[in-house]
Amino acid sequence: MDRILIQGGVPLRGRIEISGAKNAALPAMAAALLTEEPLELDDVPDVADVGTMRRLLQMLGVETRHPAGHPHRLVLHCPQVIDTTAPWDQVRRMRASVLVLGPLLARAGEAKVSLPGGCAIGPRPIDLHLEGLRRMGAEIELFGGYVHARAPSGLRGAVIRFPKPSVGATENLMMAATLARGETVIEEAAQEPEIVDLARCLVAMGAAIEGAGTSTIRIEGQQRLRGARHRILPDRIETGTYVMAAAITGGELELVGGRLELLGAAADRLAEAGVRLEPTPEGLRASRADGGLVGTDVMTMPFPGFATDLQAQFMALMCIAEGAAMITETIFENRFMHVPELARMGARITVHGATALVRGVPKLHGAPVMATDLRASVSLVLAGLAAEGETEIHRIYHLDRGYERLDQKLAAVGARIERRG
Ligand code: EPZ
Repeated sequence: MDRILIQGGVPLRGRIEISGAKNAALPAMAAALLTEEPLELDDVPDVADVGTMRRLLQMLGVETRHPAGHPHRLVLHCPQVIDTTAPWDQVRRMRASVLVLGPLLARAGEAKVSLPGGCAIGPRPIDLHLEGLRRMGAEIELFGGYVHARAPSGLRGAVIRFPKPSVGATENLMMAATLARGETVIEEAAQEPEIVDLARCLVAMGAAIEGAGTSTIRIEGQQRLRGARHRILPDRIETGTYVMAAAITGGELELVGGRLELLGAAADRLAEAGVRLEPTPEGLRASRADGGLVGTDVMTMPFPGFATDLQAQFMALMCIAEGAAMITETIFENRFMHVPELARMGARITVHGATALVRGVPKLHGAPVMATDLRASVSLVLAGLAAEGETEIHRIYHLDRGYERLDQKLAAVGARIERRG
């Protein structure tokens, strides 16, 4: 099994191209199920989760291809839905497979999707997806580990108020509503940039959507959607990760395509923590401020709050900051699995429930560590880049799920990083 070896202590310098956002590409790919015409997506990142979604869509009747010479352009074409089942074997690999539920139901009138069950970062139910679809007239039953959903005479518009924002449920319902009869209103909708990106894609396909990016989204259902071309927005989590790679190593990186406004509150917390961030004509530049890294408290929140997907990386950064940082995770229940691994590298972290208190140390030390989920894994990479000596990271398939060519991008800016089989 592949592992990554890092010799730490090299300040990273140079330019890194930011890829398209995985979490925007996955729902946009699922949107191809909504039309019999081709959907062309640009800036689709070459990551394992995109491959998993592609295989699932192929099983459902979507033809997919990369036009020659365009590895990041993906054409998806679903003349006819040939199967309406997302099997357990796909969904257990990637929870985002659940995003085919809304589009399948809207286009084919039925869907059978495996219940995702737990995952490394917590139980993560899909009750909000199901409740919303029920309100739109779907009949939903759960048995044999599957969601069986039917809407034999089509979905109808409804007012859906979430008790709390959910990215995936907002996406699923927004897609389903594009082909429903009448207007759907989603209140307490998620406001993440990936929601706005999906809405842009759907509007290009002929959907009528207002309010994406705010807490109330209105969708007027259409008879049919058409093919379109859409560019996926840059990955804000990849951007934030490399911002912290520059800061933790005391280097300076220009992140080409990175957009400061997509970082939301993380931009302010990073600035407080001693990370210099400035926009450039092509993206943004990140370095460590002259005063050094300073312990800074953060609490994860839905966008524009501090992203849960940047929490582990921020914790790695705080491990070598001056003073203490209190990091509170409010989105997922079990998202501190990087803590014992960082501790093995010399970090001083105490966890009380959903809060971790990080007391900065002057140096981390390389150690063999194990990746547990995507963002936890990359926090170990960041720690390894800053640590003295060698860090060996195991189970790096987690990294491949969401970071395109991570080792190559880091090596190109000076990191001593190597992937071994
Ligand atoms: C998306 O997951 C992202 N995944 C996650 O990124 C990200 O961490 C998360 O949003 C939060 O920003 C994709 O976009 C593919 P949610 P999602 O529904 O949609 C609870 C990564 O590393 N909830 O917004 O599954 C849920 O348990 C991944 O790239 C319900 O209770 O997240 C959580 O506490 C990891 N019932 C909260 O809501 C539901 O029906 C927010 O989850 C749905 C969610």
